[in-house]
Amino acid sequence: MVSPAPAPAGAGPLSPAPSPHPEDLVLVVDFGAQYAQLIARRVREAHVYSEIVPRDTPAKEMLARRPRGIILSGGPASVHVPGAPGLDPALWSAGVPVLGICYGAQLLARDLGGVVARTGQAEYGRTSLSLASGTGLGSPLFSGWPERGDVWMSHFDAVVEPPAGFAVTASTPSSPVAAFEDPGRGLYAVQFHPEVAHTDRGQDLLKAWLRDVCRCRPSWTRTSIIESAVEAIRAQVGGEAVLCALSGGVDSAVAAALVHKAVGSQLTCVFVDTGLMREGEGEQVEETFRRQFGLDLVHAKAADRFFSVLEGVSDPEAKRRAIGETFIRVFEEVARASGRSGARFLVQGTLYPDVIESGTADAARIKSHHNVGGLPAEMGLELVEPLRLLFKDEVRAVGEELGLPEEIVWRQPFPGPGLAVRIVGTVTRERVEILRAADAIVVEEVQRAGLHRQLWQAFAVLPVVRTVGVMGDERTYAYPIVIRAVSSDDAMTADWARLPYDLVERLSRRIINEVPGVNRVALDVTSKPPGTIEWE
Ligand code: XMP
Repeated sequence: MVSPAPAPAGAGPLSPAPSPHPEDLVLVVDFGAQYAQLIARRVREAHVYSEIVPRDTPAKEMLARRPRGIILSGGPASVHVPGAPGLDPALWSAGVPVLGICYGAQLLARDLGGVVARTGQAEYGRTSLSLASGTGLGSPLFSGWPERGDVWMSHFDAVVEPPAGFAVTASTPSSPVAAFEDPGRGLYAVQFHPEVAHTDRGQDLLKAWLRDVCRCRPSWTRTSIIESAVEAIRAQVGGEAVLCALSGGVDSAVAAALVHKAVGSQLTCVFVDTGLMREGEGEQVEETFRRQFGLDLVHAKAADRFFSVLEGVSDPEAKRRAIGETFIRVFEEVARASGRSGARFLVQGTLYPDVIESGTADAARIKSHHNVGGLPAEMGLELVEPLRLLFKDEVRAVGEELGLPEEIVWRQPFPGPGLAVRIVGTVTRERVEILRAADAIVVEEVQRAGLHRQLWQAFAVLPVVRTVGVMGDERTYAYPIVIRAVSSDDAMTADWARLPYDLVERLSRRIINEVPGVNRVALDVTSKPPGTIEWE
């Protein structure tokens, strides 16, 4: 039986056997990708390692991983829809603690004999949760909670009767059974979302469940992430040579720094300077990796080749293809010239969300993304992906821990084809210079306003049109610059950022005064969807 009372790790007849993973593991069953990712991140913030598994994973397979707990995520479906995603019933009696959240809670109720009513009434947003005076206050989930607190709801159907053997621990005005549990079987369910920041003590609830019900140790830390990554890299690579394409962005930088820590001089990094980078990016990469880390770095200054293949090309996909192909060619030549053509491995900064999304059918690609992922198929190299299990915030934390400078760790995302896809029309050196200068002003001012980390991206776009203006007594005929600033969690959706007017005013004044060739500044107020973040 899983006892709610604190006990040493691994105690109790129903406690899972020690995990073969160096860390305690909690699995999050995915009933709606975005909910699942947020839950997994919150679990990791509580220093417990978590992984997301598809909802159709057989219980046997999940249990073989020896998880210390299993969380069922929320999801957009109703449990009453024919064919609604369900779970292998073997899970309910496996002796591993389960926490059902929202859809997960309804599923648990439905499958174990409770009643989920089609209320036809949505409960959405912040609402007040009241703990049941006996069972609620005594629940391990709510230890330390006040009798009433704000929680975040987002559902249609509602559990109106818990399954036999379960105690109702909390309710809201529209959900009489907002939390229920059977500690004897280790089964817990909450209709609200503890993973969102709007639920006052949501993170406390998750922590309490992890600690007091699952008996997880809080051992997933920056240091343990680095240690296990270094070990895994050494085991994979042995004494072989490794190549890495540095892009200037945080992912490839952290991946390179980890591999360097693991195998030192076996690693050669190649920074292909396409001439389409942001201001100062090449210098920063060189300064950090060659001088600070003492890493074997080849800085390939290949701008001429990129400008020459881009000549006269205005179609966005054609630009991406031309850049992608040239990138591969330059990379191969540099690797050959540096004597590393015999390398067997290639480092790639793939993150956990990419891994999860590429495993789902709805991960449709709207644009052909130019990533170094195009390289191995061409070159027959085996991938080393030290960030494969990490979320972006963990990558940044690891980067800080490894001593990478703040400018790299906190750099905003940047498309592989660089400034070329922010020039709407054909790409010339002159246009790239104008755009780079305007972009540097946007970055600098957004940083000065303290908004850099809050915004997903803030950058400049140059549409190749010219408009009439007047500066001094002179008529001008020059380019506009469009400011694009968005907030987002994962780039799948984004909202245009409400930049303060005084910041917009400063950006406009500085760009027009300081960047020759620009006489107008506009602000993009389009969300995604319907727009994309980039213009091409
Ligand atoms: P969109 O424009 O599709 O962009 O809304 C979503 C996110 O992806 C970035 N992006 C790219 N990243 N190679 C990349 O590595 C690319 O070709 C590329 N195109 C867009 C974009 O900056 C945004 O963060």
